[in-house]
Amino acid sequence: MPEHTSSPSAPAAVLCGVAGWVPPRVVTNDELAERLDTDDTWIRTRTGIRRRHIAEPGQATSDLAVEAGRLALRNAGFDPVGTDATGTDPVDAVIVTTTTPDRPCPATAPAVAARLGLKRAAAFDVGAVCTGFVYGLATAAGLIASGVAARVLLIGADTYSTIVDPLDRANAIIFGDGAGAVILRAGDNDEPGAVGHFDLGSDGTHEDLILVAAGGSRRRSVDGEPTRAERHFAMRGNEVYRHAVTRMAASARATLSGAGWKTDDVDHFVPHQANLRILHSVADDLGLPRERCVANIDAVGNTGAASIPLALADAAARRVIRPGDRLLLTAFGGGLTWGSCLLTWPRLPPPTHPHDPLVPYGKGADAPS
Ligand code: UT7
Repeated sequence: MPEHTSSPSAPAAVLCGVAGWVPPRVVTNDELAERLDTDDTWIRTRTGIRRRHIAEPGQATSDLAVEAGRLALRNAGFDPVGTDATGTDPVDAVIVTTTTPDRPCPATAPAVAARLGLKRAAAFDVGAVCTGFVYGLATAAGLIASGVAARVLLIGADTYSTIVDPLDRANAIIFGDGAGAVILRAGDNDEPGAVGHFDLGSDGTHEDLILVAAGGSRRRSVDGEPTRAERHFAMRGNEVYRHAVTRMAASARATLSGAGWKTDDVDHFVPHQANLRILHSVADDLGLPRERCVANIDAVGNTGAASIPLALADAAARRVIRPGDRLLLTAFGGGLTWGSCLLTWPRLPPPTHPHDPLVPYGKGADAPS
């Protein structure tokens, strides 16, 4: 899709709140190595991951989404416990982007909105696997540009631990659970926080590279119980890796050239936290110093649709990202899907730290290039 910015007369979507939340339970590489044929060194050097947070049994995606959503509303200065005295909701729409909805039906967002105390906000899910947050941003920007909504709560939330086979060492080591959220309000294209210059794309000819075979209409439950493999998340990691590097670099370039930005104009590259080696390869390909790559994958792993807002919340909490800094967001995921956009970081109260940091940014690179 050609890089796109909304018309100058339409309101822009301006980021005015951010937050992240991860379940308290930490799973280290050593703990995984107790049950899987793997070890801390392999995981650190091949992925950059040192630990991840995992949902408790019974803890669903909406539980994480509600926590992040409530914190984001508070960060934006909105009443986090529902409608005001006049019965007005603090946001007009709630979008949850996830690959691990609470159930195949209904969408997860209406329950999240209700648990946040909202009475009438539109609520729906967006599915674009790990690209979901950037697709969600574009969707929110569209709602705002068209006048359908003036304020949107966008939450990226995933509990991959509920679909990854715990005995699958290739995937169990990468994914973690978490949620990240932003509030977007109607504003001007030239004010800090305005998101724009989207580049979105997909190539469904590679749908088989990342999939859960059962649970949808293709593999019907009426045809008998799915096998263990069909019920779990499957990824051809090596092939996905190559696509991730080339597609993310191409998408980032398309967005930069559409905006007339040079690589050097980017203060922080905030990519989907797929694998630290992928992030560094993309940064190298773009000619961006690796220190400008925001990476918290060491502490949380790959959290799917949550990874970019969680990285934003973490970096903002640590004052790594400061008001006025120029950000390039780039994601890649199953589908295949990819997307990028730009924003200048607005002045916000620093959000709560979503998790304990492990190592300073740019120094978590145990991974070879
Ligand atoms: O979130 C969006 C989409 N996802 C991604 O972008 C993830 C992309 N892929 C990856 O990050 C990497 O492909 C993985 C981390 C999944 C795997 O790393 P890799 O360097 O591509 O490993 P590989 O699949 O090429 O496997 C190399 C070797 C194999 O052994 P042999 O056949 O060479 O003897 C694997 O069996 O490493 C083995 N292996 C492991 N060894 C120890 C695979 N997983 C593990 C493990 N511990 N956990």
